[in-house]
Amino acid sequence: MHTYQDMEVKLSNRNGWKSLGPDTAPHRCHIKTGFILLLALVFLLTVVTYVSEFSLKTALLTDTFYEKVLNQTRSYYVVIEYPSASENPTIFLAPNRVQQSPTQTTDISVHHHVAHPSNYHFILDEPDKCSQLDPFLVLMVPVALHQVDARNAIRSTWGNESSVQGKAVLTLFLVGLTGGPEAQQQLEEESRQHRDLVQSNFVDSYFNLSIKTMVIMDWLATRCPQASYAMKIDSDMYLNVENLMSLLLAPNTPRQNYITGNLMWDRPVIRNKNSKWYVAEELYPEPKYPMYLLGMGYVFSNDLPEKIVEASKKVKAFNIEDAYVGACLKQLGIAPSSPPDPSQFRAYLGQYKREDFLRVITTILGSPQQLIDIWKDVKRPT
Ligand SMILES: *[C@@H]1O[C@H](CO)[C@@H](O)[C@H](O)[C@H]1NC(C)=O
Ligand SMILES: *[C@@H]1O[C@H](CO)[C@@H](O)[C@H](O)[C@H]1NC(C)=O
Ligand SMILES: *[C@@H]1O[C@H](CO)[C@@H](O)[C@H](O)[C@H]1NC(C)=O
Repeated sequence: MHTYQDMEVKLSNRNGWKSLGPDTAPHRCHIKTGFILLLALVFLLTVVTYVSEFSLKTALLTDTFYEKVLNQTRSYYVVIEYPSASENPTIFLAPNRVQQSPTQTTDISVHHHVAHPSNYHFILDEPDKCSQLDPFLVLMVPVALHQVDARNAIRSTWGNESSVQGKAVLTLFLVGLTGGPEAQQQLEEESRQHRDLVQSNFVDSYFNLSIKTMVIMDWLATRCPQASYAMKIDSDMYLNVENLMSLLLAPNTPRQNYITGNLMWDRPVIRNKNSKWYVAEELYPEPKYPMYLLGMGYVFSNDLPEKIVEASKKVKAFNIEDAYVGACLKQLGIAPSSPPDPSQFRAYLGQYKREDFLRVITTILGSPQQLIDIWKDVKRPT
């Protein structure tokens, strides 16, 4: 619970030295005033140089440390018990984001209705993918437009598992609007090559992740109602599709109104305006979030997307994507389920051990290369 807040305190204290003015140099009448002034000047310069260097080092240290923790904890939820930071956190978790201007809040409070997916339309789409492949499971990966490496790593690992235990699996990436015409052109080229990109015309940003998730739900509801299950999974995740399939095919797994993952409850809403996870009371007045599933990866029966989209018309949007899905579920009267084995949805596994990755369903990774390396090792014949 403390890590994140402590870090914020450290960050905000970073510039505190500025208020500690250097002591004035001692003054004695029997020394010439000019000499004293010179001494004072030299002393002052030394102090200033020392202090700025010190502060520079501290800043670098703090930023690196902070980035590392963020890289490992991508999201608020993990940070808070913290603990999560990947979005995907990884995606948008640049360290400076913490000091994002609070004006954005005003923005979203004015336009809270923008979360509803009917406000947007698809620029790139794969409307026939589902009727062609008839998938049992659809993996929807929200990703930033520029993260080609992450997409390619997924394409060559878990995203390439198109048939598991006899069931068809489809993996698609969801992006919003960012960048200029050049980035857009590259994306369209990538789309022609892989036919696995869906793009919607909302402005992609960390702040807009709730919109992204609702667009994913909208795509599933309108383009893929025939699938049995779907998963929203971040682009920096490891996924053991075999284990996920075993869970979904188990006789006790509900086929409707089912959603599971890393279950969160009793999570306080962050009211610190400097926090990346700040939510204004006007957007979400209650002090705690309803029960929800950590955004890194949650699995659901595919009857839910349509219901969630419908519920989202009645639930004021706020900028915490996973908690917002939780609020829509609460509106629907559907309780998230704890997975049969909660240790299969892990934020972090720590030191790499092959047997952990053979057991788990999903966990956060550090980089696309790590996914490729771990995948190779997990899949090697023994
Ligand atoms: C954090 O992740 C980014 C890419 O996601 C990487 O460029 C950066 O080096 C990482 N930082 C640390 C401290 O691991
Ligand atoms: C996906 O797997 C097939 C074999 O099933 C392989 O031929 C292909 O190269 C893989 N694609 C990628 C992008 O790794
Ligand atoms: C969120 O998306 C909406 C619609 O595209 C856009 O108007 C708004 O500026 C975006 N907000 C942020 C903070 O990116």
